[in-house]
Amino acid sequence: DPFAQSGQIGACFLHLPSVPSTNRVIADLGRRDYPTGTVVVADHQTEGRGKGERVWVSNPGDSLCLSILLRPRRPIAELAQATLVAAVGVREGLSYTGLDARIKWPNDLLVDGRKICGILCELVTTPEGDPDFLIVGIGLNVRTPPLPDDLPDRVTSVSAEVGADASRFALLSHVLSALDVWFGRWEDRGFDPIRRAWLSHSCTIGRRVSLDCGASTVTGIATDMGADGSLGIRDEGGVCHRFHFGETSFPAP
Ligand code: BTN
Repeated sequence: DPFAQSGQIGACFLHLPSVPSTNRVIADLGRRDYPTGTVVVADHQTEGRGKGERVWVSNPGDSLCLSILLRPRRPIAELAQATLVAAVGVREGLSYTGLDARIKWPNDLLVDGRKICGILCELVTTPEGDPDFLIVGIGLNVRTPPLPDDLPDRVTSVSAEVGADASRFALLSHVLSALDVWFGRWEDRGFDPIRRAWLSHSCTIGRRVSLDCGASTVTGIATDMGADGSLGIRDEGGVCHRFHFGETSFPAP
């Protein structure tokens, strides 16, 4: 239903040549009352950040680095779902290139097992500690893999996959309109349509995964995604676990 588009995402748009991190720029704009849907795109990041305090390295112009400010109308308890909404939206935006990316819980996009896009969602709180707004940061590999040659088989890019030079501008516009549709659906109809889309494009459910949740690692079969977006894992001793955050990987057999 293309008419679900709210028109909010990208209505306020900044394109900057070089910034430390687009997520940090959005954090500043959010505190300065910029509207929901504000987008910052940078050609280069000097201090790009990934999940788990890792760095996100990209060559200038070779990846699409953007962040979105969101003030969702959903209850605070549901905000972990935003990260899954973002994965579904970026995946759909990318599909116009012919790529059928799969989602690794919660939100990495993979093509034939290689990462093509990473998403870093952050919740910003008020000085009093109340939820204020969300930052959705997206790093999409457009031309060359952003990591050095010592990890050649773990990352890929749109150009590497489709064999042509991908236009960053066309990708950006498809990704933003798909995100607008999917965040609009989430706000209007809740998580159920997002969950169905996520499941139909996932490469996680039914697979053997390891989940790193900071303190410990659980390895087992990913059994399901809960109605709230959580991941169920049955470990090798048959014990079922449920996770609301963390990072999954596919361990060697
Ligand atoms: C991951 O580790 O998979 C998440 C990577 C997120 C990278 C993007 S690039 C735009 C935005 N700004 C950042 O500093 N990080 C995110």
